[in-house]
Amino acid sequence: MSGSLTPSINATALRTQLCGSLRPEHIGQSVTLCGWIARRREHGEHLAFLDVRDYSGVVQCVVSDVKDVRNEWVVQITGKVQARPEGTVNANLPTGGVELVECQLTVLNAAESPPFPIDARADDVDEGVRLKFRYLDIRRERMQKNLRIRAKVNSAIRGAMEAQNFVEVETPFLMPSTPEGAREFLVPSRKEPGSFYALPQSPQLWKQLLMVAGIDRYYQIARCLRDEDLRADRQYEFMQLDAEMSFVTKDDVLAAISRAVVAAAEAALGQTPPPIEQITWHDAMNRFGSDKPDLRFGMELIDLTDVFAATEFKAFATAKSIKGLRVDAATYPEAAASGRSKLDAFTDRAKQMGAKGLVWIKVGDDLALDSPVAKFLSDAERAALLQQMQAKSGDLLLLVADEWSTTCEVLGHLRNDIGRPPVHEGPYRYVWVIDFPLFVGVNAITGKPQPGHHPFCQPHPDDIERLESDPMSVRALAYDLVLNGWELGSGSIRIHDPEMQRRVFRQLGISDEDADRRFGFFLQPFKYGAPPHGGFAFGTDRLVAILAGEENIREVIAFPKTQSGSDPMTNAPTPVDPAQLNELGIRLLPPPAKS
Ligand code: AMO
Ligand code: AMP
Repeated sequence: MSGSLTPSINATALRTQLCGSLRPEHIGQSVTLCGWIARRREHGEHLAFLDVRDYSGVVQCVVSDVKDVRNEWVVQITGKVQARPEGTVNANLPTGGVELVECQLTVLNAAESPPFPIDARADDVDEGVRLKFRYLDIRRERMQKNLRIRAKVNSAIRGAMEAQNFVEVETPFLMPSTPEGAREFLVPSRKEPGSFYALPQSPQLWKQLLMVAGIDRYYQIARCLRDEDLRADRQYEFMQLDAEMSFVTKDDVLAAISRAVVAAAEAALGQTPPPIEQITWHDAMNRFGSDKPDLRFGMELIDLTDVFAATEFKAFATAKSIKGLRVDAATYPEAAASGRSKLDAFTDRAKQMGAKGLVWIKVGDDLALDSPVAKFLSDAERAALLQQMQAKSGDLLLLVADEWSTTCEVLGHLRNDIGRPPVHEGPYRYVWVIDFPLFVGVNAITGKPQPGHHPFCQPHPDDIERLESDPMSVRALAYDLVLNGWELGSGSIRIHDPEMQRRVFRQLGISDEDADRRFGFFLQPFKYGAPPHGGFAFGTDRLVAILAGEENIREVIAFPKTQSGSDPMTNAPTPVDPAQLNELGIRLLPPPAKS
């Protein structure tokens, strides 16, 4: 168990030490413990074995004349530590060499029978029930372990940031709506009915203002709120290690954040991760088909555009990019043995991701190709394909022809579907993805480019001259940190020149007047001597989940929301009193018809 077992630290008026701390060295001592009854076993008429538990572990107590105590009752127990009789030592339990005898038991509180066993062995309790009784779920070993890892990680991050002269500054929760990208939670104003505060998606604006203010290095373990659809790696409320630095380049930011990440990993696992590699966004997409490349497994995408440069196969003839994914028979024995339904499922998935189709080719004995399109391929194309993909008998080849980004993304998804281990399975592969595009895609309504990250990222100096003429080709000084295929964090060097900020806003379809009206409070300060600056934020829930060996961040959050955004324990969200709404000047529309 984590945490110090030192008696003097854990002693209180009611106990001398923790249950899990007893060892043979305590034999002969009289101790007083407090905790919950984990298990009761009768031993004859007047004797019972009580396992007493606190967060540090359980210890067996031999009690005579036991009163009415049942599982989860809260007790104080005083007794003498003795060696367990020969043959009864439990080598699987840290306290298994000793037991407490001559016990005096005081019931501190009775308990109803819990809705599920607190015992760590029963881990298949429905999640809705776990969350409804979260205070009991947290009493269990899994959550105790996870929350304590979380606390260690937070503490290590603080230590690493403070050792680098970062100053912790708290920033407001009630703020105006800002253009960071996610849907905001709004809070109605009572004093100004019809006006709203937004809750922070992140402290982005504040931390940049703190750089104008000369704080030099800011950090905060900040709560952020976003009204997004919830998933394994997303909650409405989540925590970021948020940081910003003045007078820096990308490498300074990456080095500072790396120290915090390494400290967190060391605190959680006791191991130092290897130096974090870097890959450009373009290479990540090209090789792994993802801006969150999972480097724990191979299956790199292979460019086949040249192989089919002169092809007569219609679907490939006019494509700008043709890429292939090799499903290796050695790793995936079912590869070329995949049945029709599997192959159809791959094709459906590819189409769902935006592909026009998917070509599958099974490589048979003697490297014969089995595929509906095999007849359209020339001998030279077959040979070049096998060679380029280093294909062997038994492999399955999946090919997509389209725009470069589509071929990458579609095969990247198939690569993950087929090869990706659960996120928490080692080894831990951290990677910086650098040089993200400044803009990605086009807003369906405005027809304008959308920010790749957020609108405050500095365009790459080599690309600035194309900001107006070819905005989609401009890279940003923006970077992500990825761990085992999860995006841990994002950051960038920021725009500090007000005119450059306006140029970027204009590309996004935000006029100078609009910008002044909506973000004047943010743009104005940049006229008063904004230093060059940059920063980063990583999601501590995600980092802790992976380090704790969990696949869902709910497992490392004390009181999370369910996938549908509710809290079964408090029933939030709940309707409010009409008087409260009146005070806020709010009248409700009838609820939308259920579809
Ligand atoms: P970004 O929006 O990429 O960047 O967020 C940074 C990190 O925060 C975590 N995160 C979440 N975690 C759990 N649930 C969510 N709903 C959620 N949304 C985001 C992720 C993500 O990588 N201000 C910028 C950072 C900067 O530029 O300095 C920002 O917030 O781990
Ligand atoms: P079609 O010519 O549309 O009948 O397609 C013939 C085969 O090629 C089918 O298996 C399609 O799934 C596949 N296909 C069509 N377009 C593409 C494409 N752009 N990339 C990969 N495969 C494709």
